[in-house]
Amino acid sequence: MTPPDALPFRLVSASCPPTVLFLLLLLLLPAARGCPRSCACIRRPDGLDVSCSHARLRAVPSDIPADTVTLRLDHNLISAVPDRAFRGLARLRELNLSHNAVETLGEGALRGVEATLRTLDLSHNRISHVHRDAFARLHAKVHMGDNPWHCDCALQQALRVMAHNHEAAGRVRCHSSPLRDHREGQPFLAMDADLCNLAKRTTDYAMLVTMFGWFAMVVSYVVYYVRQNQEDARRHLEYLKSLPSKAPGRAGEEPEDASTAV
Ligand SMILES: *[C@@H]1O[C@H](CO)[C@@H](O)[C@H](O)[C@H]1NC(C)=O
Repeated sequence: MTPPDALPFRLVSASCPPTVLFLLLLLLLPAARGCPRSCACIRRPDGLDVSCSHARLRAVPSDIPADTVTLRLDHNLISAVPDRAFRGLARLRELNLSHNAVETLGEGALRGVEATLRTLDLSHNRISHVHRDAFARLHAKVHMGDNPWHCDCALQQALRVMAHNHEAAGRVRCHSSPLRDHREGQPFLAMDADLCNLAKRTTDYAMLVTMFGWFAMVVSYVVYYVRQNQEDARRHLEYLKSLPSKAPGRAGEEPEDASTAV
């Protein structure tokens, strides 16, 4: 004889076989631990250590726990870091993006973690350009070697704001540059040209040439106008000189009449 209240329990366990329960547990486990898929998380006294190295990730995971302090994304296939990719990670101190396929870093890529970040590894990527303000508010030590850098004004400006970080610029080697005498692989710091004034000087020259052109046009017009007037005046004078033979005295009287009338 079964007790009457054992029946509902038997029904529940029958509709929910152990495999389903196990799968449910498996699904809930990472969520409970707050660790993104294909990452390993270790809790430290000061926060979470998230390691997603060698995981064939094509993008920055969107479900990184908010209390992450170290994030390793190295050796993946990440090609772009979108704006605010790390938003909400208010305690992030170390970010390793080395050995990926990152091509450019937008102005807002690090928005939200600029104040806390201490180390940023961007080495061994495909970065050639950065926005001139990409590192503007960053206090971190940035590793940016082994990238095909295009050494132009924007890069010079981006590095200039990182005065605290000489090493960052020290490792940058130029793959290309607007300078004609640049050699591939030349260290950025060895090129002591002002890459920003370079562009400015070119526009200055263009402006100067244009202004000179305009000036020359105005001067030649004035010269032509004066010459033309002189010619007219001379002809007019000759005409006036020819008048007295027909009406003597008339030409001399006229100005006097005008002044007395006024
Ligand atoms: C980032 O990861 C790479 C590969 O594991 C490692 O060699 C490098 O030292 C790390 N960067 C930093 C700043 O710890």
